[in-house]
Order: sequence, then C-alpha cells, then structure tokens
Amino acid sequence: MFRIDRNLTADDLDKALRADVAEGLSARPKRLPPKWFYDERGSALFEEITALPEYYPTRAERAILELRADAVAESADAEALIELGSGSGIKTRLLLEAMGDHGRLNRFVPVDVSGDFLASSARRVADDHPGLDVHAVVGDFEEHLGLLPVASAGERRLLAVLGSTIGNQEPGPRAAFLRDVRGVLGHGDSLLLGVDLVKDAARLVAAYDDAQGITAAFNRNVLNVINHKLGADFDPAAFDHLARWNAEREWIEMRLRSRTDQRVRIAGLGLEVDFAAGEEMLTEISAKFRREGLAAELDAAGFDLVHWWTDPDGDFALALASVR
Ligand code: SAH
Ligand code: AVI
Repeated sequence: MFRIDRNLTADDLDKALRADVAEGLSARPKRLPPKWFYDERGSALFEEITALPEYYPTRAERAILELRADAVAESADAEALIELGSGSGIKTRLLLEAMGDHGRLNRFVPVDVSGDFLASSARRVADDHPGLDVHAVVGDFEEHLGLLPVASAGERRLLAVLGSTIGNQEPGPRAAFLRDVRGVLGHGDSLLLGVDLVKDAARLVAAYDDAQGITAAFNRNVLNVINHKLGADFDPAAFDHLARWNAEREWIEMRLRSRTDQRVRIAGLGLEVDFAAGEEMLTEISAKFRREGLAAELDAAGFDLVHWWTDPDGDFALALASVR
C-alpha cells in the first residue's frame, strides 16, 4: 500500500527558497542552506557520490547495517519505521527486511524535501513489500515534524536519520532538531542515527573533492536550482568548488568561490548580487562526530545512547538511542 502526503507544495517550496536565497546572499559571508542541492538532478548526483571510490560513508554504513540490522530490529521492536531525509532508501531496505523478519513492522514513513525522487523511491519500496503500509511525506524535517502521520495508539516507532545527514546541520539547529525529534517520540520509541566519524583530514577532504568532479557538480547544482526556480543568471562554471577541513569545529566546509568580479541577477527576487573575484560562499557543512560528543548531544535532547556500532575500519558509526 502506498500513499504520499505533500506538506510542501511547489508554492511553499518556492517561498522557502526565496527567503533562504534573499537572506543567504545578503549575509556576509554569503551562504546557502544545503537542502536546496536536492532537486531531481541534485538527488541523482548525490546517488552518484555514494558510489565514488573516495566517498566511504555510504559503503561503511551499509557494512554496519548488514551486520547489525537484526540487532536494531530486536532492540527497537517497532511497528513503524520513520526515516528523515530518506533519499533513495537503498540502505533502508536492510532495516525494513530485518524489522519485517522480526515480525512487528507494518508501517514505513519516509520523509524527504525532494518530492519526486521520494515518490519514486517510496513507490518501489511499496512494490517490493506488499504487506507494508508505505506512507511517504514530502516535507522539511526542520519544519514539519509535527505533521508526521499520527500513529495508532501505542504504536512503537523507530525514527532513523541515516547517511550522517544530521552532520549537515550546525550545532545549534542540530540540538533543536534532536529536541524536536524527541518531542514526536514517546517512551519505548527509539532513534537510529548514522554518523560519520572524525578521521584523517586528507581522506575527509578527498571524500568531498573527488577526482571525477561529481561533488563539484553537486555543489554547483545549487546555482542551477536558483536559476531554474528564481529566474537567476548564475554561471555555475564561474565558481570553483572548494572542500576544506575545519579542524577546530571538526567539520568539512563546502564552498563556491567566484572566479571573477561578477554581478548575478535574480529576477524572481528583483535582486542583483555582486561577487568579488575570490569571494567564497558557504554551501554546506558536514560535521564529523566522536562517540562522547554524540552521546552528550543525545543526552541533552532527552535520549540515552544504547548501542554504538562502527564498521571494521572505524570510519562510520550507527548509534541507537532510547527515549528517556
Ligand atoms: N539517507 C540517504 C540520503 C542522504 S542525502 C542516505 O543515507 O544515503 C540527504 C537527504 O536528505 C536528501 O535526500 C535530501 O533531499 C534530504 N534533506 C536534506 N535536507 C532536508 C530537510 N531539511 N528536510 C527533509 N529532507 C531533507
Ligand atoms: C547528505 N550528507 C550527509 C552528505 C554529506 O556527506 O555531508 C552530502 C554531501 N555533500 C557532499 N557530498 C555529500
């Protein structure tokens, strides 16, 4: 069974993009929030990234899930799996299968801002799991958690955020997000987080600056999105892709650097924005985690860390937490 709720209409998305672009391009330094990478092309580029030799997180997380999905299913003992930022949901299938074998799963609620991509991925899951109620929700997980479909009384839930997607939030918004997640869960529910771990800077930078230039295309895609949706005239080729390790904050910063002095017109906003040659605009942070730090963040949001599983190389972790 398949249903889709569209909390975000094209109009809502347009309004949110306009507000973020107007604010981000007037800020000093300029910045854009990473959620706007993900139109159809951005989601497809992200899928390409996950297969790159330099981008280890997806393979590492899949290796952990292959070993531990049964333990997650047993510990969560849940009837519903809610996944925020589900994307293609390829790794999620390992969880769905383990939870199905465990015997209680009946509902899957994938949530993503990338509506068409979500619709086709979730429909495929529904086709492959005929007994499962797949209820997809197009929404912004920072804004719309209160609109998640209401559980039947007493339904036990596992809420998953895989792929280290929480690393794309800065610490303040991430703390607020984890508290909001706690707010939609009840006693007996569980939270599963996939998080990328602090490691050698050269490997981290390579993962965000691959030799084939796919990550560069993904980064520049945010300019295509603004051109397409807001009638802007960004020339993506006039910006260089940068990936830097910020050792103090322990996060990767992705930036776009203007190659020349240039003026960009954003017709939909009636805005002209000047970029100086060499000027950098922040497009994404990707925080890397340590066990103690994540345990403290979970504790502050009202969760207890119950399991911490890593891949054999210690590159990535899967953290299972219970509601306190
Ligand atoms: N979980 C998948 C995909 C990670 S990519 C994996 O592990 O491979 C991040 C996903 O989160 C994308 O599909 C993107 O569209 C979605 N996303 C990013 N910001 C979001 C937001 N604010 N609300 C909802 N979805 C968001
Ligand atoms: C979705 N997110 C966790 C990815 C990451 O690794 O931060 C997005 C990404 N950006 C560049 N490459 C991948």
